[in-house]
Amino acid sequence: MKKNILDFGTMKLHREKILMLTAYDYPSARISEQAGIEMLLVGDSLGMVVLGYDSTVPVTMDDMLHHTKAVCRGAPETFVVADLPFMSYVSEESALFNGGRLLKEGGADAVKLEGGEYYAPVVNALVNAGIPVVGHIGLTPQTAGQLGGFKVQGRDLESVEKLSRDALALQEAGAFAIVLEAMPRQVAEKITLELTIPTIGIGAGASCDGQVLVYHDLLGLFERFKPKFVKQYANLGVQALEGIQAYIREVKAGEFPALEHTFTLADDVLERLYGG
Ligand code: KIV
Repeated sequence: MKKNILDFGTMKLHREKILMLTAYDYPSARISEQAGIEMLLVGDSLGMVVLGYDSTVPVTMDDMLHHTKAVCRGAPETFVVADLPFMSYVSEESALFNGGRLLKEGGADAVKLEGGEYYAPVVNALVNAGIPVVGHIGLTPQTAGQLGGFKVQGRDLESVEKLSRDALALQEAGAFAIVLEAMPRQVAEKITLELTIPTIGIGAGASCDGQVLVYHDLLGLFERFKPKFVKQYANLGVQALEGIQAYIREVKAGEFPALEHTFTLADDVLERLYGG
């Protein structure tokens, strides 16, 4: 049965880990739901792992809607969170308009946005309008340029305190969960203990209330770079390459299609065709 935002809060209370994974299309959503993933994230990481951009910055609302619809069709029994893309939530008005579209048109159950204290009023406006929100702090890929690249955050006292303040501000504004990305495990643990809402970690250690990974990283489908925090559980990229190479070999050798992949005319039709 599809979980809701209260279930995720209860899971934190019961110390039951929350399972989140990204998905971008019908098959990835379907497989994840079959496997038992509890929360799917249509991440704007789709810009990098599906669309081939160098960052998440070029991802548009149209991209997000297109992929969110496919994920919702593939996983009707799973809670779906859709990312608000870069520059789509710079004001409360734009956040409400775009967040509303992700729920109404895309079919998502919640939206996620990157940023801390500064975005608390936007989070509050979304929540007041009835849109469940997941926060995202630490390494925020949409603004990685401002962070000096895809770097671990919260390494000094000042930035640890800032991350703590950001997390509390998002909770106060009404977010029902927060993604903590790329920070020392002790920092994520501190924030997880300070909050009543669940934390979902990626590169933030095992103390978070849940974990999230990018589908393509988990399955070995994205080779451009592999952050330290990624564990690859399968190597589908290599399997896909070998499969396509075998297809190429067999077609060139005339081995595919074989008779079992081929339709055949009935003998009587054949006879009449050739006047036998
Ligand atoms: O876009 C994304 O996939 C994300 C995860 C890395 C949390 O935001």
